[in-house]
Amino acid sequence: MKFDTKAVQGHRREFDPLTGAHRIPIYQTTTYVFKDTKHAERIFNGEEHGFIYSRRSNPTVEYLEEKVAFLEKGETGLATASGMAAINTLFTRFLKTGDRIVASSTLYGGTYGLLQMMNERYGIKLTFIPANEFHVKLEDALDDDVKLVYIETPANPTLDIVDIESTAKITKKYGIPLAVDNTFATPVGQRPIELGADYVIHSMTKYLSGHGDTIAGMLVGPADVLKPMKNLELRFLGGVLSPFNAYLILRGIKTLGIRVRKHTENAMKVAEFLHDHPKIERVMYPGLPDHPLHEVARKQMNGVYSGVLSFIIKGGREAGRKLMETVQIPALAVSLGDTDSLIEHPASMTHATYSEEDLKKVGIHEGLIRLSVGLEDPDDLIEDLDRALSQI
Ligand SMILES: Cc1ncc(COP(=O)(O)O)c(C=O)c1O
Repeated sequence: MKFDTKAVQGHRREFDPLTGAHRIPIYQTTTYVFKDTKHAERIFNGEEHGFIYSRRSNPTVEYLEEKVAFLEKGETGLATASGMAAINTLFTRFLKTGDRIVASSTLYGGTYGLLQMMNERYGIKLTFIPANEFHVKLEDALDDDVKLVYIETPANPTLDIVDIESTAKITKKYGIPLAVDNTFATPVGQRPIELGADYVIHSMTKYLSGHGDTIAGMLVGPADVLKPMKNLELRFLGGVLSPFNAYLILRGIKTLGIRVRKHTENAMKVAEFLHDHPKIERVMYPGLPDHPLHEVARKQMNGVYSGVLSFIIKGGREAGRKLMETVQIPALAVSLGDTDSLIEHPASMTHATYSEEDLKKVGIHEGLIRLSVGLEDPDDLIEDLDRALSQI
């Protein structure tokens, strides 16, 4: 089956045999009644599939976990209350005091902040490698302490690309798990597990939801690791997804393919416009031929380059401030992957967890603006940006 059929039909029919409901019900319940004590024992022992308590599992959430795993070509999924909860659950599984994580240097600010906190509090060692040369420098960075390799591609907010397949060849050779944050790309075009990665992370808050109305996360990976994690890290850390939010994501996924392709088409037009504009110093978008890893992106993302782009405006932070306050269509707001265009300033907003020195090191310029291109008509967006730029 092609992606859109899978996204609509899912891995199994949602059909509820009890009522005939065509959509999976929102099982808005805390607990589940056992038939008798033996039945309870069988479920607790894992001899029989069943539900105990919605922090441990819930039918609506479970359906979503299976569906995202199906789309990502992974074995199983672990839905979480946010993307950060998925990342924290993963890190808690693999990292303890004295261990090292090797990560791409440009990461979502929350992920970077969590790593800094884990370093300061628990003595977890950090090595960062720039995304564009990650696979070239990785082997030299590996030692016995490395327990996880973590990449974000495209990276937030610089849209840097990590070559997933080349990276996975190295992590496989050394038997180190590789996790990929696939939030920007989505499985519409990029499926890291097919390219050799072990785990996929999503902030489902973004494209999987697609409508800017919920916070949610997902971890996809092998069942022999994720099933125990469900009963340990996720159950005890407690960052589980609510059934109502699971339902919203299931609704969003039905249109994931058409939305993300249209976001990409719109972003491409906006990127080309900004690329040729005299007041723009540089556009960062993997769909542009001058992106340093455009060819890698074209292959591993199957031409679905995401709807997010960044650009550096001439005149630095002040010019950026003026632009963001003058445009009328994009909302001045963080987040991305929404139907509506959103514009923000990473250095002072989403990536304020980086020190000034680190921002410079990883290429988050103070004049860098991130634009999540929505599903509005791209000609209107271009006209809006053009008018705002003319006032600077
Ligand atoms: C690439 C990426 N990963 C993870 C996250 C964290 O997700 P959440 O906000 O759902 O916790 C974000 C949020 O912006 C993100 O952009």
